[in-house]
Amino acid sequence: MIEQPVRRIAVIGTGLIGASWALLFLARGLDVVATDPAPGAEEATRRAVEAGWSAMERLGLSDRASPDRLRFVTRPEDAAAAADFVQENGPERLDLKRDLFARMDAAAPAHVILASSTSTIQVSQVQSACPRHPGRVLLGHPFNPPHLIPLVEVAGGDAGTEEAIEAAMSFYRAVGKHPIRLRKEVPGHVANRLQAALWQEAFHLVQSGVVSVADLDAAIAHGPGLRWALLGPFLNLHLSGGPGGLAALFDKPLWAATQALWRDLGSVTVNPALAREVADGVAAELGGQGTDGMVAARDDVLLQLLAAKAGTAGLP
Ligand SMILES: NC(=O)c1ccc[n+]([C@@H]2O[C@H](COP(=O)([O-])OP(=O)(O)OC[C@H]3O[C@@H](n4cnc5c(N)ncnc54)[C@H](O)[C@@H]3O)[C@@H](O)[C@H]2O)c1
Repeated sequence: MIEQPVRRIAVIGTGLIGASWALLFLARGLDVVATDPAPGAEEATRRAVEAGWSAMERLGLSDRASPDRLRFVTRPEDAAAAADFVQENGPERLDLKRDLFARMDAAAPAHVILASSTSTIQVSQVQSACPRHPGRVLLGHPFNPPHLIPLVEVAGGDAGTEEAIEAAMSFYRAVGKHPIRLRKEVPGHVANRLQAALWQEAFHLVQSGVVSVADLDAAIAHGPGLRWALLGPFLNLHLSGGPGGLAALFDKPLWAATQALWRDLGSVTVNPALAREVADGVAAELGGQGTDGMVAARDDVLLQLLAAKAGTAGLP
């Protein structure tokens, strides 16, 4: 599975996520063969690669890295047939993904992994459209933007083989990603489910009048969000136990009180009034500033954080 070396990646669909994957693969010195039926897709992708190149320079370019290693073809099956690894990023429609993967499964050599970036579709539903080699059809779900955020969620669904999953994990590691493996399929995968829990409670707290939109944002961005970029929920909890760690924490009254809180969390449907309240609150936070400056500042600090984490011993 995956003949070494992996040199050419097919990027299927070059919207927000596909263009960002293409930028990452080019910066890692790989050839990218891309396809997207939208008018002007090739020009838009080249512009996105150009715009993101300086960020990749800061992260560190690999030998052979060049924006010129990008080429476009018209048909997904031609891209898949020419590639060592396929990363699919088409629209989030099951019928469309099944059609795309059926065509790519028919065209790609047996050892080529076909990975989908899908956020919500179960990969098993795509595998069943691939009679030739369903075992090499996997989930490879990135976080936006994939050229900066290391996480990739990998799942094998019903048919994914151990060999294919391991090969995909090692490919993602080789291009600088941090893959995690999902042992079972679950709607939304893992990281988005964690975010969903937080967003639900955020809307609930604003709707209940507990806190303003700006203070809710501050509660994360100036609070636990800083730690979460360094240590996940369980390791943070371990540190909350003091020197005795989790074992000590589980014996403390604080632990029972913490669990009682879980049962008090809200379940909310965002009605038009709540949507307006949150939108108005965000507009007030922005204070008339557009989002471009904020995205640039976020990505700048994100790059500094990634560099700091990479250079720090003792963090996972
Ligand atoms: N937006 C996110 O934050 C995010 C994060 C992680 C994963 N994803 C997943 O990535 C995928 C793409 O999402 P996006 O946000 O980039 O969407 P997008 O709408 O920006 O891009 C989709 C692209 O697919 C192209 N396309 C349409 N038909 C196609 C076809 N037959 N073959 C190839 N390309 C085709 C479109 O022209 C468009 O450029 C989805 O599966 C989504 O769930 C999105």
